[in-house]
Amino acid sequence: MSGEFRKYIGKQVSYATHGIHRYPAKFIPQVPRFCMEAYSDVGESVLDPFMGSGTTLLEAIFCGRNSYGIDIHPLAKLIAKVKITPLEPARLGEVAEDLLTGIRADSDDNSEWVPEIPNRDHWFRPHVLSELATIKKHIWSMKKGDNQDFFKVCFSSIIRKVSNSDNDSLIPEVTSFQKKLDEQGKTSYDAIARFENTVKNRKMDAADFWKLSMEVTGKYRKAPHARIVGKDARDISLEDSSIDMAVTSPPYASAVHYVSVHKLEMHWLGLLKDPAELDTKIVGSARAYVDEYGPWEPRTSIPELTSVLEELVSREKKSAYIVYNYFDQMRRNINEVNRVLKKNGRYCIVIGENTFRRVRIPTYQILEDVATRSGFELERTYVYDVINRHLDIPRWNDSRIEKDHILVLKKRKERPSESL
Ligand SMILES: C[S@@+](CC[C@H](N)C(=O)[O-])C[C@H]1O[C@@H](n2cnc3c(N)ncnc32)[C@H](O)[C@@H]1O
Repeated sequence: MSGEFRKYIGKQVSYATHGIHRYPAKFIPQVPRFCMEAYSDVGESVLDPFMGSGTTLLEAIFCGRNSYGIDIHPLAKLIAKVKITPLEPARLGEVAEDLLTGIRADSDDNSEWVPEIPNRDHWFRPHVLSELATIKKHIWSMKKGDNQDFFKVCFSSIIRKVSNSDNDSLIPEVTSFQKKLDEQGKTSYDAIARFENTVKNRKMDAADFWKLSMEVTGKYRKAPHARIVGKDARDISLEDSSIDMAVTSPPYASAVHYVSVHKLEMHWLGLLKDPAELDTKIVGSARAYVDEYGPWEPRTSIPELTSVLEELVSREKKSAYIVYNYFDQMRRNINEVNRVLKKNGRYCIVIGENTFRRVRIPTYQILEDVATRSGFELERTYVYDVINRHLDIPRWNDSRIEKDHILVLKKRKERPSESL
């Protein structure tokens, strides 16, 4: 492990609002914190173009940097927004009490609040549907705004736990393990009790964040701002040369199906309008059409990538194209980050290796090549052992120790690359 990084390891990872909701492949907060402290100063600006649940933005507040975050996923944006919005604890407590009192006293038939969910009865028991509907009715009847969003996130975070899905599966699935736990009476499907308990715990997190954000405001002359901007990491709505540094943990090629992971939550929140359309915009999506990859040839100017693609083509051309398309979309992101960074600004990309169709993909090495063709130079690489094994990225683990890399890329010139 790189020496400078060691002091950040082993620290608490879910303080303040970091733990308000599950999210796949979350950063440990110390990683973006380390990058921001090493490559920017207090009062400067930081961008996370694949912000996910907003870890970078929350840490940026704590270390006095102004931050901007982008994500294509509507649930990620909601979680991030709640994570970075301080809520006054006494007022939040009053609103929570009113909400919970209303839910407890409600004995109506609220079935009209149950959304359309494909295979609904496979995923939820009848009494769970009716309890979730009652909770939803009361949250959605609240005044719109920050407090309501906080309770939406609390609501979202119990959906998987009261569904019939195995809580440990990344993508919802009803497993024989879960059924065995049910038979042994080790599971609870009491949605209202879970919601009350979640609200209690998240209120404590919010109070912790409120206190820390007050300290931050006192410490820095001007309180840092955190903003969610635009929609797409490949088309960033920020001015040229306006940002001091960027840090991100991008998706991997075909590793996590982001649309499916939270599909149950998104149905309940009304956020899953067109799953196929969302999937096509996700970098690393496994969606590919024969009219795209049929005429395509696995040739690039990056030898390491070309050899991965040739190996994959020998197994299945579609898989090779998915990997090619991933690096091509990352190229577009790297061009955009280059554009918005100031000269000598750093783009820290946290990435490792992965496997696809049993082919090793040295993603960090290929991204380094992609970035150097887009006007960056590699300043240095930090390597550390993967601590959170729940990342669920299929890794190349011959050595048994899984490594992540932080590529520190320095902007040298504006030179968007047109192709791989
Ligand atoms: C590895 S996750 C980031 C997790 C984040 N570091 C955290 O701590 O929660 C990658 C994110 O990239 C997002 N993403 C994928 N394609 C995108 C695109 N075209 N524009 C913006 N975000 C995208 C996914 O929705 C996902 O949230």
